[in-house]
Amino acid sequence: MFKINNEYLKLPGSYLFSTIGKKVAAYTEKHPQEKIIRLGIGDVTLPLAPAVIESMHKAVDEMGEAATFKGYAPDLGYEFLRNAIAKQDYRMRGADIEIDEIFISDGAKSDSGNIGDIFARDNKIAVCDPVYPVYVDTNAMAGRAGDYDAKTGRWTDIIYMPCTAETDFAPELPEQTPDMIYLCFPNNPTGATITKSELQKWVDYAREKGAVIIYDAAYEAYISEDDVPHTIYECEGAKECAIEIRSFSKNAGFTGTRLGFTVVPKALKSGDVMLNSLWARRHGTKFNGAPYIIQRAGEAIYSEEGKAQTKEQVAYYMNNAKVIREGLADAGYSVSGGVNAPYIWLKTPDNMTSWEFFDYLLEQAHVVGTPGAGFGPHGEGYFRLTAFGSYENTVEAIARIRKM
Ligand SMILES: Cc1ncc(COP(=O)(O)O)c(C=O)c1O
Repeated sequence: MFKINNEYLKLPGSYLFSTIGKKVAAYTEKHPQEKIIRLGIGDVTLPLAPAVIESMHKAVDEMGEAATFKGYAPDLGYEFLRNAIAKQDYRMRGADIEIDEIFISDGAKSDSGNIGDIFARDNKIAVCDPVYPVYVDTNAMAGRAGDYDAKTGRWTDIIYMPCTAETDFAPELPEQTPDMIYLCFPNNPTGATITKSELQKWVDYAREKGAVIIYDAAYEAYISEDDVPHTIYECEGAKECAIEIRSFSKNAGFTGTRLGFTVVPKALKSGDVMLNSLWARRHGTKFNGAPYIIQRAGEAIYSEEGKAQTKEQVAYYMNNAKVIREGLADAGYSVSGGVNAPYIWLKTPDNMTSWEFFDYLLEQAHVVGTPGAGFGPHGEGYFRLTAFGSYENTVEAIARIRKM
């Protein structure tokens, strides 16, 4: 008789976006005349850059000719893409990453979820609170999280690192020693980030404790301040303790196109075993490569035109972020984020819970955001707005909120 993975039964329902969807649908049915503005889900809205489209068209044509047709992609990804990444994302930033340390994938969600495969079940993990839920849920599926306590919203075996206003929404080194530390900067959901010297402290701590850092840099392209590291490998010793995960979703609008990569340096070892070899084994066995057309599309963002065009897209979203941040601050809200990240994290007014504020905003301003409580217990009392809408909608949303 087969048995299922019982760890899945411990997972609480993923209510966040389905509850939001239901509430918005119910409101729209009652008030069909109201124009709802959605600044909730972190999905891009601008079309793919012309350089990306051109490269994809060319690759489609190549697939239609016997001489240039491509079958399975190489295990780690095409060299043309890994070369561009190694040079422009790493060497140009002073981080010496080789192309066989880069693994092309279909995105950062899969990689951040799958990376747990190469680690033992009894590793103790540490996560920020609030947090991108994938790190927690995938460790729960693997049996690494213990049991879920619905009263506290926490798993018994996970170390939570609160990110609060007192610490500018950055985590502090945990009291209990973890084996695996998940960090995400610039951060979803808080929009907070970390300076290079602060990140160096985490690298030093991980090396001292023999821990590994899983560093999610999906929002790297949104960094605008000078002392914020673009990659963890800008820190000394990071190649011995950190895996970095990147995405093309938010820097180039690939949420529906799907492309990402993970860097596993060869210097990162457990005893004599290179984690790079384990991930290569896992990748080669369970993943059959991102499509050639998409890898060519990804390569295009490293061309001069591609860089200029994607930079413009990021600037467009960051201008929205400025509209939200400054508009809300001016209206008396306590806001953070939105400077190095496309997310604005605001304190709900009058001690409202984050769901109360969700309802209030929907009813009074017809604007949809995301309640902070959906990202963890320390998200309660906060609310996330995204800069990924259109400029016109963003301006209108803020004007409506200001009138409430
Ligand atoms: C922190 C973080 N990591 C990873 C992802 C997923 O990225 P991808 O679209 O590459 O799977 C997201 C998407 O919202 C995210 O916020």
